[in-house]
Amino acid sequence: MLHDTRNRDIGYLRLSVTAACQLRCIYCRPAFHRNHTPGMLTPQEFGHIADHLIDLHGVKKVRITGGDPTARSDLPEIIQRIAQCHPDIDLAMSTNGLAMDRLAGVCKSAGLKRVNISLDTLDEATFEQLSSKRGIEHVIAGIDASLAAGLAPVKLNMVVMRGINDGQIPEMVAFAAARKVQLRFIELMPMGPLAGNWQQYYLSADHIRRRIEPITLSWRPLQQGAASSRNFHVILRDGQTVTLGFITPMSCNFCGSCNRLRISCTGEIFPCLMDQPRGSLLSALRPKYDPVKFDALLAAALQEKAAEHPHDGFVTMTSIGG
Ligand code: 5AD
Ligand code: SF4
Repeated sequence: MLHDTRNRDIGYLRLSVTAACQLRCIYCRPAFHRNHTPGMLTPQEFGHIADHLIDLHGVKKVRITGGDPTARSDLPEIIQRIAQCHPDIDLAMSTNGLAMDRLAGVCKSAGLKRVNISLDTLDEATFEQLSSKRGIEHVIAGIDASLAAGLAPVKLNMVVMRGINDGQIPEMVAFAAARKVQLRFIELMPMGPLAGNWQQYYLSADHIRRRIEPITLSWRPLQQGAASSRNFHVILRDGQTVTLGFITPMSCNFCGSCNRLRISCTGEIFPCLMDQPRGSLLSALRPKYDPVKFDALLAAALQEKAAEHPHDGFVTMTSIGG
């Protein structure tokens, strides 16, 4: 098992396979973002990274992120290359869901086990206001296709923003209950274009919960484990049940038990989401995979894993996927 200098176990690898995304969410990416990143890692190279961390360092969970992973046409090969030697690994993906109506089955066959889909609204006008594109029906079709393909559990992530989508919390809960999927509420973080005025939109998890309580009968806390989400089994007034989660990077940060290591699509090592990269794995992957060099680069980067995230983000999540 890998450790950092504060004795946190590093068991969770997040691989950002592209910085590109079809959407321009206001809390994530600048209006003009170059979609093409030169020198992106190949499926083979992502495979080496995953194999190395799983086989030599006991990593148990791998998540494919972006940008949006579906912006890469070789996504199935990336999944396959990571999954092929590790059928038992918890292999998940985070996506905006837009392309999952087309890709859910392909991803499942390639070896993907489950997906988290961003869903901040069910309303087309709000979707457009938030992401500068239309297409909420594709996201919903993507959720249904993921469920049909057996990418279980499907989890929905809603970043809640005051005055933008907070009025839609009850209908989002009803949607999740009807689809029998988990819904997690994420506190807005000061990253990307909203970094300067995020407080205007920020709502704490406590506040969000208070907005849901009128439509609920009971809340039972579920075991948290290493997950960043505090989950509850909730019974709604209409008799339906749903699992709701709260991800609280701002009101109650979970840095003390952070088990994550992030690698960008060009091989940069991000020991912390909101801190700067601490080196790159590229010279351990090109011209050919070199496990000794890999370990030296990794150890140097983990030395610098922040105790807590800095107050202001250094990069936007655009490039390293949440
Ligand atoms: N605050 C909170 N979550 C964010 N994400 C991206 N930017 C932010 C931000 N500023 C997360 C959301 C989104 C995913 C792509 O990354 O969960 O759904
Ligand atoms: Fe871990 Fe950094 Fe995220 Fe905190 S901000 S939970 S230290 S990755």
